Amino acid sequence: MESSFALKKNETQALKIPKHIGIIMDGNGRWAQKRGLSRSCGHKAGAKVFRKITLYCSRLGVEYLTVYAFSTENWHRPKPEVNFLMNLFEQYLNECLEDFKDENIRVNFIGDTKKFTQKLQRLISKVEKASQSSTGLVLNIAMNYGGRAEIVSAVKKISQRILANEITIDEIDENLISENLYTFLQPDPDLIIRPSGECRLSNFLPWQSVYSELIFMNVLWPDFTEKDLDNAILQYNKRDRRFGKVK
Ligand code: IPE
Ligand code: IPE
Ligand code: MG
Repeated sequence: MESSFALKKNETQALKIPKHIGIIMDGNGRWAQKRGLSRSCGHKAGAKVFRKITLYCSRLGVEYLTVYAFSTENWHRPKPEVNFLMNLFEQYLNECLEDFKDENIRVNFIGDTKKFTQKLQRLISKVEKASQSSTGLVLNIAMNYGGRAEIVSAVKKISQRILANEITIDEIDENLISENLYTFLQPDPDLIIRPSGECRLSNFLPWQSVYSELIFMNVLWPDFTEKDLDNAILQYNKRDRRFGKVK
């Protein structure tokens, strides 16, 4: 496996590495368009970068990485593009399995995976099970993920517990809501990176991102390199996180 630290060891030691990084992997279509290629080629190139950056995060000592791969709104794209993406997920999850195992990465899917084909759902369970005992980076792959849908699902789960007299309304607090999200037991993202030049979150982790540092970058995802991640981490290190307090 290629070793591709962009930051030197002594540089990473002096830096605060975010515990949890979120990445909105955006810009595949424009990357392809710029080259006169089909959008599918952009998605293929983006998948390679996903693998490379995941391994880099693992080596940097990031504890949680959440990547946005497919949103609840992405179903509204043309059918051939959606079908291509579903096939790509199948192919890539299989290919990454070994890499991630070797790298001690634990894979977790966030989103409503029940909407995927049986075949893809089986693969998702296989990947999750195969990496369950890994103790390194926790990789959340957000697929058919929507932050609003996640909150709606949490409200339903809590309501059911109230109806079953397991809890009372007074017991609803921020912790209870967090515990009913896909990311329960995980820290909120410290840093969210969105390449592609768009400056919005597009339904990515709305509950969890309230105090995340946001970095929007002009590079398109298939062009994103380890150096871009280093730059984002360097910028993150200059941010003054106050969480509403006075310092
Ligand atoms: C992100 O790239 C991949 C997915 C949303 C699945 P896009 O396909 O959104 O690329 P652009 O934004 O059109 O360039
Ligand atoms: C967000 O990108 C979803 C993913 C990267 C998976 P989109 O390309 O779907 O977002 P918008 O449409 O630009 O807001
Ligand atoms: Mg996009």
